[in-house]
Amino acid sequence: MAVAGLSLVTSGCNRREAADTGPLAIAARTADDHSYARPQEARVRHIDLDLTADFTAHQLKGTASLMLETEANAKQVVLDVKDLGVEKVTDASGAPLKYALGKADPMMGQSLTVELPQGAQKIVVRYHTEKGGTALQWLDPQQTAGKQKPFLFSQGEEINTRTWIPTQDSPAIRQTYSARITVPSDLVAVMSAKRLTPDGEAVPGHASQRTFRFDMDQPVAPYLIALAIGDIGFKEEGKNTGVYAEKAMLDKAAYEFADLEQMLDAAGKLYGPYKWGRYDVLVLPPSFPYGGMENPTLTFATPTVLAGDRSLVSLVAHELAHSWSGNLVTNATWEDFWLNEGFTVYFESRIMEQVYGKDRADMLKVLGYNDLLTDMKQLEADGHPEFTKLHPDLKGINPDDYFTDVPYEKGAAFLRVLEQRFGRKKFDAYLKGYFSRYAFQSMTTEAFLADLRQHLLHNDGDLEKELKVHDWIYGTGLPDNIIVPKSPLLDQVSAEISAFAAGGDPKALDVKDFGYPQWVYFLSHLPDNLTLDRIAALDSAFDFTHSHNSEIEFAWLMLAVQHHYTPALPTLRDFLTSQGRGKFCTPLYRALMQQPGWGPDLARRIYAEARPGYHELTRAAVDKVVK
Ligand code: BES
Ligand code: ZN
Repeated sequence: MAVAGLSLVTSGCNRREAADTGPLAIAARTADDHSYARPQEARVRHIDLDLTADFTAHQLKGTASLMLETEANAKQVVLDVKDLGVEKVTDASGAPLKYALGKADPMMGQSLTVELPQGAQKIVVRYHTEKGGTALQWLDPQQTAGKQKPFLFSQGEEINTRTWIPTQDSPAIRQTYSARITVPSDLVAVMSAKRLTPDGEAVPGHASQRTFRFDMDQPVAPYLIALAIGDIGFKEEGKNTGVYAEKAMLDKAAYEFADLEQMLDAAGKLYGPYKWGRYDVLVLPPSFPYGGMENPTLTFATPTVLAGDRSLVSLVAHELAHSWSGNLVTNATWEDFWLNEGFTVYFESRIMEQVYGKDRADMLKVLGYNDLLTDMKQLEADGHPEFTKLHPDLKGINPDDYFTDVPYEKGAAFLRVLEQRFGRKKFDAYLKGYFSRYAFQSMTTEAFLADLRQHLLHNDGDLEKELKVHDWIYGTGLPDNIIVPKSPLLDQVSAEISAFAAGGDPKALDVKDFGYPQWVYFLSHLPDNLTLDRIAALDSAFDFTHSHNSEIEFAWLMLAVQHHYTPALPTLRDFLTSQGRGKFCTPLYRALMQQPGWGPDLARRIYAEARPGYHELTRAAVDKVVK
C-alpha cells in the first residue's frame, strides 16, 4: 500500500494526537543513529523468511521477502545489512531489481539500497549469512548439554539482527514476521513467534530435512526476531507457559521454572493483560552471552540460572516484565534503552514482591543498588561519566558499550522516586495507562517525558523541579533524592560480616537462613584487608569452591581473585571455560588484569582456552579487557 505523506515512525497510533505535538509525534521525529534506514520514504512492515540451516557450512541461506509501505513517489528502500552475502534482489514477480551496498562500517555494517519500481510493495532478498556475524552462534555438539548434536541460536539486541536478516534494523520500525526454517530432520527449530508446526513438516524429496513454520502477527522491533535450532524438547508448566531446553537439560529446566504461570498472572494483574499469547522460556547452551533475552513469547535464558533450587528466577521475572516494558512499548532508539531496562527492573521487582514477598524483593533491590554504585565508580574511573546518564549520546558509539547497570538500576531508582511521591495506587495506574497508550509503539525519552507531564505530573512545573526529573534523565551521577533501598534481612548479614571481620570463627556465624542474596551480599561486603588464612577459613567453612549457584560462585571468585587465593584457581578456570555469560566473564577477567604480577598471565592463559567457546559478543567485551 502506498501511504501518502508517511511521516510517522509509529503504526496504528492515534492519528489526531500524532499529527500535532503529542508524545507519539515527538517519538516519530527522532532519528535512529544506529540504522541506515530512511523509513519516511519506505519502510518494512512484514518480513517473510524462508531459510535453510546448514550446520556444515555454518550458514543460514534463503530469502527474506519484505512487504513495504512507501511514500507515493518513493524510489528506493534502504535496509541494514552486516556480514551478509546478498545474492540477488527481485520484485514480487521475480524480476531482478538494482541494488547497491554502502561502505562497510565496523559497528553499523552496510546500507543496502534497493531501487523500487513504481508502486512496489514487496521485494525479495536472496542471501546467506557469513562468518563473523554477531547475531548467530553455531555450536559444535561438545559445546551443548547433550554433546550429541549441534546447536544454533540468534541474539538480536541491540544491532545484531542485520547480521542474519536484511531489514531495517531500528527498534522504531516495528515489523510483523513469518518464517519457514528448514533444518536437519533430527533437530527442532523455535522462534519468538507462534510455533505453527511443533513437530515440523517433511520436506518432499529431502528425507534428511524438515521444516518449521512460525508467525508473529503483532509488529515487533527487529531486535526481537529470534531463532534457535537444536535437540530441543518442551515441557509444559501451566496453561500458557512452558519450558524449552536441550533434551539433556529439560527436566532440570522445568523444575527451576515451575512458577512461570504464577509470575505471568502476577504481571498481568499489575499492568494489564499479557498480549502475546504464550509465554515460554528456552534454556540455551552455556555460551549464551546474556542472562536472559526477552524474545517475544519465548524468553532465551542462560543455563547458569539453573541453580537447582529456583533461587535465581528473578531473571525470568525480568524477562517476563519486558513483555510490557520493551516488547509492547519499545525504546525508539538505543539512547532510550533505559525505557526498556529501567522500567523492567522496576516491574521485575514488583513481580518478585507479589510472588515471593517483600523480604526477598527488598534484598534484590539492595543488590541492584550496590551493583549500580560499582558500575558508576567504574565508569568514572574509565573516564566515561557521560555513560552515567539515563539518556546518553550514542552517536558513533556501539550501544553495547553502554551496557551497564545505569539504564537498569538508575532507571528503576527514578521510577521508585515517582512511586514514592505519588503512592503505588496512582503510580501503578499511570504505568498501566502508559503501557496501554503506547502498546505496539516505540517511545523516545522525550515522548515519555511529555506523557509523564500530561498524565502524572499534570503539567505542574514546580513538582517536576522538586522531583529533579531533569537531573535524573539528563544528568550524570545520582540525584540526591534517590531512595536508598533497605533490607532487614541483609542488615542481619551485615552483623555476621562484622563478627567475621572482628576475627570470629566462620563456623560460628549464623548463616542457616542464608539464601543466594545473603551470600552474595556477604561475599561482596567483606573488608578489603582479609588475609589468605581468613579466606581459606571461609572456604573450609562454607565450601564456596563447590557452590552450584552461579551468582554465589561468581561473588566468591571475585573475592578469591582480589586476594590471590590460589586454591580457587581450578574453579575459576572451570567457571570461565564452562559458560560464556558476559556479566560473569568480563568482571572476572578485569579483576585478574587488575592484579599485576599475579593475574594478567592467568587471565591470558584462561582466556586463550575459553575464547573459542565464547559468543562473538562476549569475545568482543573480553577482548577489550584482556590484552
Ligand atoms: N534485554 C536484556 C539483554 C540485553 C541487553 C541484550 C542489551 C543485548 C543488549 C535482558 O532483558 C537483560 O537485561 N538481561 C540481564 C538479566 C536481567 C535479570 C537483568 C542479563 O542478561 O544479565
Ligand atoms: Zn532487560
